[in-house]
Amino acid sequence: MDSLAQIDREVSVCTDCPLSRDRNRTVPGEGPENAEIMLIGEAPGSNEDKEGRPFVGAAGHFLEQLLALAKLSRKDVYITNTVKCRPLNNRDPLPEEKAACRKYLDRQIEAISPKVVVTLGRHSLTSFLPNEAISKVRARPRRVNGITLFPMYHPAAALYQQSLRKVIEEDIMKLPALLKEISSVQEQAPPVQPVRKATEGEQLSMI
Ligand code: URA
Ligand code: SF4
Repeated sequence: MDSLAQIDREVSVCTDCPLSRDRNRTVPGEGPENAEIMLIGEAPGSNEDKEGRPFVGAAGHFLEQLLALAKLSRKDVYITNTVKCRPLNNRDPLPEEKAACRKYLDRQIEAISPKVVVTLGRHSLTSFLPNEAISKVRARPRRVNGITLFPMYHPAAALYQQSLRKVIEEDIMKLPALLKEISSVQEQAPPVQPVRKATEGEQLSMI
C-alpha cells in the first residue's frame, strides 16, 4: 500500500488527463493519514489551484464552520476532490477526467482507511453511487464496496442557498454519532483469527 506522500508525488507530475495543461498547482488533498473522516469535494477552484490545497476559498471557509458544528476541525479530517487539477472557469469535471483521476482517490481511501467517507456534492456522490440524487440519499449512511459513505450537499451550494444551508448544517451534526456507532460496532466485532499454517496431517477448521 502506498503512503499519502507517495500518491502526492505521483499526482504532482501527472499528465493523464487534459486538466494537467492549465493547472498551476496540483491539489492532491490534505490531512492526517490516520483520519477517521475523509471528505471528497468536486474539483479545485482558482484559489486551490494557486495554493495547492483543497477548500481554501469561500466554500472552504464555510466547510470549516460546518466542521466546527460537529466539533471537528480541518486537522482532524482528510480533504480531497474527485479530480486533483482545476477545470478552467470552474466548469464541472468531465466524466473522462474523473475516470482518469479515480486511481488516486482509490489509493487515498486505501491509505487512510477512513471510518466514514463524506461525499460533498453531486460529482462526489455519483463517483460512488452513479444513479443517486443527493436530495434523496443525503445524510443516510450506506456501505458501498466496503466503504461507509455519508452523502452531503456541497458547501458551495449550501452557502448561497438559504434552504440548503440549514440542511447541510443539520446533516454534518449527525457525523459524531455515526462515528461513535461505527467505532462501537468495530469494537464489538470478534477479533480476526490469526491465520496459521496447518501442520502435516492437520486439517484447519473452515468456519
Ligand atoms: N474547493 C475544493 O477544493 N473543492 C471543491 O469542490 C470546491 C472548492
Ligand atoms: Fe492527473 Fe488527475 Fe490532474 Fe488529470 S486531474 S492530470 S488525472 S492528477
